[in-house]
Amino acid sequence: MTGRLEGKVALITGAAGGVGRAQAIRFAQEGADIIAIDLATPPERTTTGPSQTLADTVRAVEAVGRRISAFAADVRDQQALDAAVAEGVGALGRLDVICATAGISSTGAAVELDARRWQTMLDVNLTGVWRTCKAGIPSILAGGRGGSLVLMSSIAGLRGLVGVGHYTTAKHGVVGLMRSLANELAPHAVRVNTIHPAIVRTPMIENPATMRTFSGVADPTREQFEAGVRTMHLLPLTFIEPEDIANASLFLASDEARCITGVTLPVDAGHCLK
Ligand SMILES: NC(=O)c1ccc[n+]([C@@H]2O[C@H](COP(=O)([O-])OP(=O)(O)OC[C@H]3O[C@@H](n4cnc5c(N)ncnc54)[C@H](O)[C@@H]3O)[C@@H](O)[C@H]2O)c1
Repeated sequence: MTGRLEGKVALITGAAGGVGRAQAIRFAQEGADIIAIDLATPPERTTTGPSQTLADTVRAVEAVGRRISAFAADVRDQQALDAAVAEGVGALGRLDVICATAGISSTGAAVELDARRWQTMLDVNLTGVWRTCKAGIPSILAGGRGGSLVLMSSIAGLRGLVGVGHYTTAKHGVVGLMRSLANELAPHAVRVNTIHPAIVRTPMIENPATMRTFSGVADPTREQFEAGVRTMHLLPLTFIEPEDIANASLFLASDEARCITGVTLPVDAGHCLK
């Protein structure tokens, strides 16, 4: 059976993380080769889950029989992104899909955030998405077969979330970038859409700081944490899984979505209806 991304190559940033890795594996299962980018050293955090590296993603993609070129690069570094794309496209032959997934999170009331924290958030979660697109789009256009850009926003890109004003601003900015790119690239049959997850079971969520935020308790039990997370979703589930986001990304990346561009797609278990 032909895979839904057979003959395509996808560039994925944040490919060592929960969502980025799930995208890489899911896309590879559907026949794509992968150009994977992440930091050499993940941002400092105390995760409650297993630690994740780019090497684990490489092994997982190769295990399903696809090729992968992996690069340690910071999405704030245009030269590093350009070099990774050049080498990856050189090795794998073309580029069809970009998933701009790398991101960070932190908390703080908007008026209390210091300028450094604000700027870092915008540099990674907004400008990093633009830099990723800038690095990859010329190769998609050179391939002459159209393409798909899947930009990772959040429910914070649709609503004014409390205590994460910098994250909310960056994720709204990703929507603006998506809309401009969708207009600019439509004549080339390149589609551009955003995905808006609610609470996904990844290291970004499964860490002591976020567990405190969701439970409202200084030293929460697992049950208290999960009860807090459940209140974020309308459907009867606790977490959205990284694979749920990967499946939505796969649909947008595939030819099944060939008439879909400029869309903000919530994968939020009904959060935005609450
Ligand atoms: N987990 C959630 O609940 C959730 C909800 C909504 C949106 N998102 C978004 O989904 C995306 C993926 O998040 P995740 O949950 O997989 O988190 P994660 O922390 O597991 O993965 C994020 C990855 O991005 C990488 N990264 C961070 N800064 C980078 C940089 N400057 N350059 C290159 N790579 C960098 C990290 O090393 C990490 O591997 C993010 O954009 C996040 O904002 C996540």
